[in-house]
Amino acid sequence: MKKMDLLSIGNISNEEINEILDLGKKVKKDKAQYAETLKGKSIGLVFQKPSNRTRVSFEIGMVQLGGYAIYLGPSEIGMGGRESVKDVANVLSRYLDGLIARTYKHADLEDLAKHATVPVINGLSDYAHPCQALSDIFTIKEKFGTFKGITLSYIGDANNVLNSLMCASAKIGLNIKIATPKGYKPDKRAADAAKSCAAVSGARIEFSHDPKSAAKAADIIYTDVWVSMGQEKEAKKRMRDFNGFQINDNMMKLTNKNCLVMHCLPAHRGDEITDSVIDSKYSVIYDQAENRMHIQKAILLKLLA
Ligand code: CP
Ligand code: NVA
Repeated sequence: MKKMDLLSIGNISNEEINEILDLGKKVKKDKAQYAETLKGKSIGLVFQKPSNRTRVSFEIGMVQLGGYAIYLGPSEIGMGGRESVKDVANVLSRYLDGLIARTYKHADLEDLAKHATVPVINGLSDYAHPCQALSDIFTIKEKFGTFKGITLSYIGDANNVLNSLMCASAKIGLNIKIATPKGYKPDKRAADAAKSCAAVSGARIEFSHDPKSAAKAADIIYTDVWVSMGQEKEAKKRMRDFNGFQINDNMMKLTNKNCLVMHCLPAHRGDEITDSVIDSKYSVIYDQAENRMHIQKAILLKLLA
């Protein structure tokens, strides 16, 4: 049987998304039932960038499924430097049953998946963060019970998190309004894919450079950092360019009543979002973070069991 990778939301079908969401719900409800499902299996976390949520939830999630996880940080593997991506992929495939990779370049991840004979899961690249998007839509389903008629407004940077979130929303029929500053247009490949999926699901998808108009009629406000890992040199310019995009109390006044607040974390409090909003009763950031664990356990079960 051909191995299945999870590199981006575009790589998986609606049926597979629903399967992962359903399995995530079961895993969350009855942890004990899955305690031995991956007994004897091992995964490697090949990470080129730091991580809290992705690393801990995958490592502990794998242990909770009866398996074993080994963390291989940048100083251990040196993928693409000390050793080629191809050699890393082939060697680790002889030792492990699956790879979770966090890379700078999405192309490196694709290369890893091409050469690995075991499933490769994207733990974040410069292009996509599919595990985040899957747990985010899981959280939304938990909170609203449906995707139909719900509008998520993403206000902030056109980055990896947005690419995956807009594709997932478009596929499952969640309306999404996106506001990014001028000069920070969403990736064309991801936006085109999202538009075609929205045409099928009936989701409304809107792009603008106007954060206030995006906030209007939002049931969920979502934001992410203005400076992603690897963009540190652009920090000063970005802070200027994102002026007016902060999620603060005034922005929240424009949304629907009881509008939820989401952020993938880590947050730069005081930049893209204020303490008053991220710590408000409408914020579901820690539920999002917790759900990473449940959904990734479902992904591991689907790809490795
Ligand atoms: N949201 C997320 O992926 O967090 P980490 O970078 O801490 O893994
Ligand atoms: N866009 C952020 C997400 C971190 C989870 C980054 O890539 O750094």
